[in-house]
Order: sequence, then structure tokens, then C-alpha cells
Amino acid sequence: MGKEEQLRKLEEKIKKCQKCSLGKLRTNAVPGSGSYNSKIMFVGEAPGYWEDQKGLPFVGRAGKILDEMLKGIGLKREEVYITNIVKCRPPENRDPYEEEIKACSSYLDLQIDLIRPKIIIPLGRHSMRYILEKFGFNVEPISRVHGKTFEARTLFGKIYIMPMYHPAVVLYRPQLKEEVQEDFKKLKKLLDELS
Ligand code: SF4
Ligand code: URA
Repeated sequence: MGKEEQLRKLEEKIKKCQKCSLGKLRTNAVPGSGSYNSKIMFVGEAPGYWEDQKGLPFVGRAGKILDEMLKGIGLKREEVYITNIVKCRPPENRDPYEEEIKACSSYLDLQIDLIRPKIIIPLGRHSMRYILEKFGFNVEPISRVHGKTFEARTLFGKIYIMPMYHPAVVLYRPQLKEEVQEDFKKLKKLLDELS
């Protein structure tokens, strides 16, 4: 079975998953979207209202910011892969519980192994914590590590992890918009260096 087929099968499995209690509460699971061949993978936290309605990641207000940031460095969302640590919406958009992350994260791990991105961008501190711990790094405050590059070894070669603020931060702390834009410029630079 080729990688595309494995990823599609995985998405079908996620859509039917009942491994944690969020499965009963969702309208749609949100496996992820974008290019399976992308060098870049964005990892958010969990679906919100609109993501749950549409079954797609980052299609609400935070998603508009993400699109704007991508456009700023000449990328379209179809060219990157976007997903979340937890694939079903937590009620009232609360933070996912540790047990929900534990139940769900093997899907993300498989997506990473199949897509084999060169750069993983955790969006927000929960995603940053999961990804940094997964690759053996100490977790530091997002205010300190956003826009920094961590080099990690995987079975499929060297990858880079660049944590960023969650795009929603721009909505409630507009003064951080420039910093988020600066981080995207750093991502563009890294991408140019890799190609
Ligand atoms: Fe399954 Fe993840 Fe949804 Fe829980 S959140 S039901 S583990 S897909
Ligand atoms: N916030 C997230 O972390 N993920 C989404 O898909 C949407 C909003």
C-alpha cells in the first residue's frame, strides 16, 4: 500500500474513532488537510466549532490568520499539511485533557511517519509541549521558544521543529501579530535553505 493510500485509510479510521469520550460529542472528526508531500506540517491543538462543523482544520477565525500568514510567505494552505494533536472538538473549546491527548496522539505520530515532513510547526503551547517532548527536548515557555529551530533525528532523517504562537493569539493580543509574522519569515528562510 502506498503512502497516499495509507494516509487516506488513516483518515477514514479517525472519522470513525471512538477511542476517547470526545468521539461521542463531535459532529465531524478533523483528521487533517493539505498535501501529503509537503515539507511542512503544522500541528494545532484541537478542532473548534467551525472545524467540527466542516471536518477541516483551521477554518474559523484562527484559520483566517493562518491563511494570511501563509500568504505572507507565498504559501497556500493546499501546499502544506495542517492537522491537530486531538482530532475531535473538546466541548466549549476547552483545552484537551491529558487522557484525550494520550488516546489520540498515535494518529498524529503515524501522520508524521507517513508524511515525513522536514519541518514541523507546533502551533501554541500544548502542541509545542507534545512535539518537543516527543523528540526528546525540554519544554520551555512558548514566549521564549517561538521562532526558534530545534533539530531532531528521526528514522527518516533530520527534521526541524519550529514552535510558533497559536494563530488565535493575534485575535486577542494584536500586538503580537508582528512577532508571528517574523516567525513566518524565519520559516520561509529555513524552507529556502532546505530546497
Ligand atoms: Fe478518537 Fe481522537 Fe476523536 Fe478521541 S479525539 S475519539 S481518540 S479521533
Ligand atoms: N485551533 C486549533 O488549534 N486547531 C484548529 O483546527 C482550529 C483552531
